[in-house]
Amino acid sequence: MSDEFESKVRDALANPQNQGELPDADAVGTVGSPDCGDMLRMWLKFTEKDGKKVIDRASFQAFGCQTAIAVASMATELLKGKTPEEARHLSAQDLTGSLGTLPPMKIHCGQLVEGALRDALDASPTPSPAPSHAPTLAESIHRPASGKIRIVPLD
Ligand code: FES
Repeated sequence: MSDEFESKVRDALANPQNQGELPDADAVGTVGSPDCGDMLRMWLKFTEKDGKKVIDRASFQAFGCQTAIAVASMATELLKGKTPEEARHLSAQDLTGSLGTLPPMKIHCGQLVEGALRDALDASPTPSPAPSHAPTLAESIHRPASGKIRIVPLD
């Protein structure tokens, strides 16, 4: 990895944005990487702007490497104001923001973020009555396999 990329990741990790669950989220997506075992969950909250549904806020929780956390931090900022359709067309590379191009060995880290975003966009709205809070990633992982969590392996 280049020193410049490592330095950008370090900067992003020094002040990660939008970490933690969004208690009033409209959609949640979770993805796991069979390659490295890392997992990432993304929450989306929508609002209406100029008659269009747009992403108001996005947040994430990760059991992942530093690159995945840095990309998720960038991506959750980048998603604000995007329509679901615009967000759906963002690639892992688009989601890296100012981190720039990911080194080949870190491309799957960006794909983890992209996968969680797509899973959230595909998810149906939070069922009613809404739970008091969406389970944290740790709670989901430690919960018995009851079908409550959908893990989408990356190709
Ligand atoms: Fe697994 Fe980065 S090494 S997401």
